[in-house]
Amino acid sequence: MTEIAAPVAPVTAPGSSRLLAGLVEGLSSSGALTAEWRAVFLAVPRHLFVPDLVWRRGEDGCGPHPLRRAEQPQEWLEMVYRDEPVITQINDGAPLSVSTVSPESTVARRIVYTSSTSMPSVVAEMLSALRAEPGMSVLEIGTGTGWNAALLAQRLGGEHITSVEIDPRLSAHAQRALANAGYGTVTVITGDGALGYPRRAPYDRVISTACVYRVPYPWIAQTRAGGLIVTPWGTEYYNGHLLALTVAGDGSATGRIVGMTAFMTLRDQRIPWIPISEIVTDDSETHAEEKLSRRHPRHYVASYDARTAIGVQVPRCIPRYAPPEAEDPDGILWLLDQWSGSWAAIHHQPDQPGPYRVRQYGPRRLFDEVSAAYRIWKAAGKPPAHTWRITITPEGQHAELTG
Ligand SMILES: C[S@@+](CC[C@H](N)C(=O)[O-])C[C@H]1O[C@@H](n2cnc3c(N)ncnc32)[C@H](O)[C@@H]1O
Repeated sequence: MTEIAAPVAPVTAPGSSRLLAGLVEGLSSSGALTAEWRAVFLAVPRHLFVPDLVWRRGEDGCGPHPLRRAEQPQEWLEMVYRDEPVITQINDGAPLSVSTVSPESTVARRIVYTSSTSMPSVVAEMLSALRAEPGMSVLEIGTGTGWNAALLAQRLGGEHITSVEIDPRLSAHAQRALANAGYGTVTVITGDGALGYPRRAPYDRVISTACVYRVPYPWIAQTRAGGLIVTPWGTEYYNGHLLALTVAGDGSATGRIVGMTAFMTLRDQRIPWIPISEIVTDDSETHAEEKLSRRHPRHYVASYDARTAIGVQVPRCIPRYAPPEAEDPDGILWLLDQWSGSWAAIHHQPDQPGPYRVRQYGPRRLFDEVSAAYRIWKAAGKPPAHTWRITITPEGQHAELTG
């Protein structure tokens, strides 16, 4: 890990105060921003952290499209002050070729958004869940633009904030922006946030602004007993939770899902997108087991609570739905474990009652696992996502239902 020095340059943006006030007003009236954080958001202009080149998702299926501050200053500023994430890096900063941004889905899927400044209402929700108070020490994972680190510094004091960013260009930008905005005492580290930053431990709070499937144990080891960890968290089955964990004195941490939020994934936990045809090979199709199911496949994906329940019980299982088409009237819910090569397909046709045809193949019987997890959730009265208690220990993580 290296600590980076940063030059300082002034930034001005006419009209930004009015836009910032409007954003904060909107966040306050929607209830996203609590009283303690309102003044903090007003004091930290977001445009001081957003780089000149950002990316917009294409509404036409193409894209993403670059938006340069020098070329469209007003559009850039308005985008910065909307309650939206602003994408600041694609494909880890690798140059985009024309073919990469083709609308053809298989090609377009090679685009990964790898850094952004997060949606302001989500930032507010996470800071509120963090329950950080002035004087506490905080470790942030994923410095990105530096805006969230600046918000923490404004409230807690920059000397109490350590932020780790894996991408050296991003950490250099963030450190420069923090210094320009008056938060040069924040410690920005270039390194792998999955390792935490033991030199400044123990922390009272850890906040990750990148999503994890497995909470890295160093975050727990480096947090004081009674401290909190807030992180976007997902299962392979449903990736969109906000998890808050309390660290116990025995080396474990326990907590619950406290919100819904979608984030880009911690770099070393990204799941590569693999076409179904590479998992469901012709050979595996001929050897698949067949059975019938009475439950319509939509039950396994339709509700947030069902997806949560299946996800916490059945790791490493990715659902993908292929709707019926003119040439193939079968809709298929695919269940895929690309690591072991296991797959299952649950077929249905519009307006046809069950039973539904099921095929499964590989060392795991994914349909059996998913239907058993669904049955457990249903028998428990279909409890909401926050009733799962998530525990992390040095050995791993597990979930259990609580009353
Ligand atoms: C959503 S962005 C962070 C937003 C940021 N907090 C802000 O205020 O702009 C997620 C960041 O996590 C970083 N990241 C991904 N994997 C990481 C890792 N293993 N360690 C540290 N940072 C990582 C990405 O490079 C990206 O900048």
